[in-house]
Amino acid sequence: MMKPDDFEFVSRLIKSKSGLVLSQDKTYLLESRLMPIARKRGLKDLTELIGTLRGGDRNLVEEVVDAMTTNESFFFRDTKPFDQFRHVVLPHMIKTRASKKHLRIWCAAASSGQEPYSLAMILDEFKSQLAGWRIDIVGTDISREILTKARAGLYSQFEVQRGLPIGLLVKYFQKKEDQWQISADIRSKVQYKEFNLLEDFRPLGQFDVVYCRNVLIYFDQPTKSDVLSRVSALMPDDGFLFLGGAETVLGISDKFKPLARQRGIYQLNRPGAPEVDLTALEKAQAGAASAAGAAAPGGLAFQKPKHMQTGAATTTGTTARPAVGTTGATGTTGTAGTATTRPAGSGFGTTSTQRPLGTTPSTTRPGTTGTGSTGSGTTGSAFSRPSGSTGTGSTTRPGTTDTTGSTYRRPLGTGTGAGAGGTTQRPGTGSSNTSGSSGTTRPSTTFDRSRFGKPDDKK
Ligand SMILES: C[S@@+](CC[C@H](N)C(=O)[O-])C[C@H]1O[C@@H](n2cnc3c(N)ncnc32)[C@H](O)[C@@H]1O
Repeated sequence: MMKPDDFEFVSRLIKSKSGLVLSQDKTYLLESRLMPIARKRGLKDLTELIGTLRGGDRNLVEEVVDAMTTNESFFFRDTKPFDQFRHVVLPHMIKTRASKKHLRIWCAAASSGQEPYSLAMILDEFKSQLAGWRIDIVGTDISREILTKARAGLYSQFEVQRGLPIGLLVKYFQKKEDQWQISADIRSKVQYKEFNLLEDFRPLGQFDVVYCRNVLIYFDQPTKSDVLSRVSALMPDDGFLFLGGAETVLGISDKFKPLARQRGIYQLNRPGAPEVDLTALEKAQAGAASAAGAAAPGGLAFQKPKHMQTGAATTTGTTARPAVGTTGATGTTGTAGTATTRPAGSGFGTTSTQRPLGTTPSTTRPGTTGTGSTGSGTTGSAFSRPSGSTGTGSTTRPGTTDTTGSTYRRPLGTGTGAGAGGTTQRPGTGSSNTSGSSGTTRPSTTFDRSRFGKPDDKK
């Protein structure tokens, strides 16, 4: 058990090095993340580890900070920021940078790379319009370890099933043993760099578009304000900033203003910030909402056949294909969901065939025993069980869904709950399902394990 003054020392050290705030109720988290480091270094216990930290071992400090980062990310996370990029930001930049033909994008907390690679895949679709352009996508993160993963572009089956439309999996990924690797071409479009958001940004240069998503939530208010102010200084008048679903500039920085009628995307609060045309975006969003989960980034998911566009399954923004053998539950609150579907009757990823959405709830696939689930949150990202997996439905861990509706599910086949409707809450979590018939949305004020999740935390 960590002594209070040791906690105080370590949390202060971590905050000063990274901005990450650890309140007293995260003692268990600190302990569970630091114990493996102590073991690896042959130290007896945390007291000894903290003694070494107090002695000023710089490598150890780095290791401890890295261990305390939360690297949760997935492809096309929350959908909207990527629809906004494709329908608003990119058309604007293509028009206004026509003579310069240079665009710079910064993913300021790139984590394992899904965010910059999602952008690179969108840009690839625009390659004929962008012929002759120089496009820089710079992905930075404080965690050296996670950047190694990002550079490799290697993802598990579970990771490619979170937010990535099957068409893009087939187009851009190759199977490598039990993982999927994003193509060398897409990888070559992103430059990664270890970089701490507390450092001076100026050496990075100017950026037209900045994704600074799901990192400010870990900082205190003065740090958030400071980071936003320094980000704004790197941006031209017509730049765009993207924040996470639980983040805002309101009350924190007057350097940015929200884009009208859109969440998560901000313009500079300067006279030179242009009016942008939202027509295409709003049309796409309206289409996505009415086409019941047919919208996917890049417009690659299937539209439901007309005769299926009414009825229960069509009221949700997200319809993931129910896993098997059951009554696949359907989320009810998604508005712009990313449907992740699996090729019918095949091993995942071996064919580009997609089953029309909403057609499977009564399908029984042999050899599987799970129950279906469709996560739903306000943006309705969904994840469905891979074929051939067993288990009893997807178990949603307590507090693993953030307010943006990104749902973390325990790796499949490991669930122990018995959820008839697909999503099983772990008992005793105090979290309640506030958003519909499936999926768990926690209030943002409560501790959310997904934000602090490391593999070891999940045991
Ligand atoms: C939850 S991930 C967000 C990933 C991605 N932006 C997304 O929204 O999916 C947060 C990332 O912020 C990084 N991070 C935390 N503190 C940082 C800092 N001071 N400077 C740079 N990156 C930091 C962590 O290492 C982690 O990879």
